[in-house]
Amino acid sequence: MKFFIDTANLDQIKEAQDLGVLDGVTTNPSLMAKEGISGEENIINHYKKICEIVDGDVSAEVIATDYEGVIKEGEALAALHPQIVVKIPMIKDGVKAIKYLSGKGIKTNCTLVFSPGQALLAAKAGATYVSPFIGRLDDISTDGVELIAQIVDIYSYYGFETEVLAASIRHTMHIIQCMEAGADVATCPLNAILGLLNHPLTDIGLEKFLADYKSVNG
Ligand code: G3P
Repeated sequence: MKFFIDTANLDQIKEAQDLGVLDGVTTNPSLMAKEGISGEENIINHYKKICEIVDGDVSAEVIATDYEGVIKEGEALAALHPQIVVKIPMIKDGVKAIKYLSGKGIKTNCTLVFSPGQALLAAKAGATYVSPFIGRLDDISTDGVELIAQIVDIYSYYGFETEVLAASIRHTMHIIQCMEAGADVATCPLNAILGLLNHPLTDIGLEKFLADYKSVNG
């Protein structure tokens, strides 16, 4: 299972990279706006900076929603850096563009996926990744993790190579549940990744080890 960090914040990306467990980054227009990144040149430079920090795939989302526009923007994003994955929304023209770009060897991430049928279309179109948003499903009283399990099963039955990238992860338990459901990737906020470190018995055990060492070594 791969860990991506879901942010455009360079400090958080560096912190996750320094931990040694990071496999990639996902961004979206909301995350870029949160960091105050605006204007084509600044956005492009920001993607390049992210690629310099991490070794793995970096998802950069298109703004266009028409077929020609998605392809033009997608090809330009892909040309920025070999690590760029073109993130494309689950809309009709998006599916067509994923088919075209994947045929050209360009990696794609189909985003805003909320149903098994949408995930099926993304895989049929040849998406590298499909991004079901589990937190936003939980927000409307629908089981987001169950969707991950359904997609993993469907892809497994038919041998689709599209990787299931669990997105809209909100907390540490989501990560564990996505692992149990067989997700290929979890893209997470930094605090959810760091939450995996925590266990009170680890803290208590370490305190005792250090106290016992000190009791005989001074
Ligand atoms: O990866 C998608 C993610 O950024 C959306 O998360 O918390 O806005 O639903 P959220």
